[in-house]
Amino acid sequence: MEGAERFRVLIEEGRLQARIAELGAQIAEDYRGKDLVLVCVLKGAVVFLSDLSRRIDLPLAMDFLALSSYGDRTETSGVVQITQDLTRPIEGRDVLVVEDIVDTGLTLDFLLENFRVRHPRSLRVCTLLHKPSHTRRHVPLDYVGFVIEDRFVVGYGLDYEQKYRNLPYIGFLDR
Ligand code: IMP
Ligand code: MG
Repeated sequence: MEGAERFRVLIEEGRLQARIAELGAQIAEDYRGKDLVLVCVLKGAVVFLSDLSRRIDLPLAMDFLALSSYGDRTETSGVVQITQDLTRPIEGRDVLVVEDIVDTGLTLDFLLENFRVRHPRSLRVCTLLHKPSHTRRHVPLDYVGFVIEDRFVVGYGLDYEQKYRNLPYIGFLDR
């Protein structure tokens, strides 16, 4: 992609898709007979949700919610806000939160607290990436695609200043 030459490939497309197929198969096994709702955390998780959901061979619902935690900077502010909420109640349903990346854990910690008081029947998390080196809140991660070292990554939904979400691989800023 033009302007993307500053990025090096961390996880190539084939590896991403193979792992997503495994996650989808595992989720399908775990949620058979349940009332699954995939909750996509916008905007970063939208590409992952799109591929993951097609690897889950079950009837399921999707809903979307937008959070702001970073602004356009590359470090977490610790201040999280719901900028766009779910369209439907999740009470009594089996909610699987789909995230792009868990870094400090602050965003997810906030979200799970917020969801618990809505009384879903179950509440789990599926994240494509986990960067454990910056953990500030320990949140249980039920499904993890890849554990990565402390690098600022882009692509496959992840942005740098709102760009590069459409790269089909995970890259990192080479600076
Ligand atoms: P946390 O609250 O620190 O766990 O950060 C969660 C959010 O920060 C993610 O959902 C991303 O939107 C963003 N984020 C964290 N690390 C990266 C990165 O390396 N690249 C792009 N976005 C990131
Ligand atoms: Mg995110």
